[in-house]
Amino acid sequence: MNWFFEALTSSVGKKLLMAVTGLGFCGFLIAHLAGNVTMYGGGEAFNAYAAKLHSLGLILRIAEAGLVFFAIVHITTGAVLFFQNLRARPVRYHVKKTAGAQSLAAATMPYTGILVLLFVVNHLMDFSFVDKAHASIYQIVSEKFSNPLYVILYIVGMILVAVHVSHGLWSAFQTIGANHPKYMPFLRKMSIVFSILIGIGFGTLPIYVSLIS
Ligand code: HEM
Repeated sequence: MNWFFEALTSSVGKKLLMAVTGLGFCGFLIAHLAGNVTMYGGGEAFNAYAAKLHSLGLILRIAEAGLVFFAIVHITTGAVLFFQNLRARPVRYHVKKTAGAQSLAAATMPYTGILVLLFVVNHLMDFSFVDKAHASIYQIVSEKFSNPLYVILYIVGMILVAVHVSHGLWSAFQTIGANHPKYMPFLRKMSIVFSILIGIGFGTLPIYVSLIS
């Protein structure tokens, strides 16, 4: 773990840790959404997908351990960056001066990050750490989304994920050196399109499931 503490003490190291783990999460979101869209095929299709996923056994356990590790690194590094920035700016201005044309997504990264974390913890309690012996995973999901408050909670969660990813992905590209003036406008647009697709892709699922259940 020495490499981790060394990386945490340099600003380039911290940015790299955030970028690599953030890109890993974007990969997870693509895989998770690709699996979840089977819900549009109904309960049987989604249960069949979930059964196939769980039949991966050890491979799935390793991927889950990787996700937990990435989450620990991303959250710890993000917290260190947040408190360092706070200490560097001890005086609170009445009129908040933002650096140049900083977007709302960029300015709110720590806050959307905390809210996404709370969403994920709640999400795991809903769908991962539940008794799956007495109901199929689709039954568990459709029962949750039969409550309109849950549908709203998930849509708000997806908006937060999309806002966080719209700046995070762009920032990660810059950190790993893909900030050539020729590609920058494309990568910026690509990050926004990606986050909108993720937001709409996940956000429409609770609405669809609640309507057909
Ligand atoms: C409407 C949107 C979503 C639905 C319906 C959904 C559904 C599910 C379900 C059913 C599972 C359990 C799968 C199983 O064990 O068979 C799951 C796991 C999980 N979801 Fe979601 N999900 C959604 C959005 C998200 C988002 C946006 C994130 C991340 C920001 C996320 C992160 C996770 C994680 C980390 C797991 C655990 C994966 C594992 O342990 O293998 N989900 N989701």
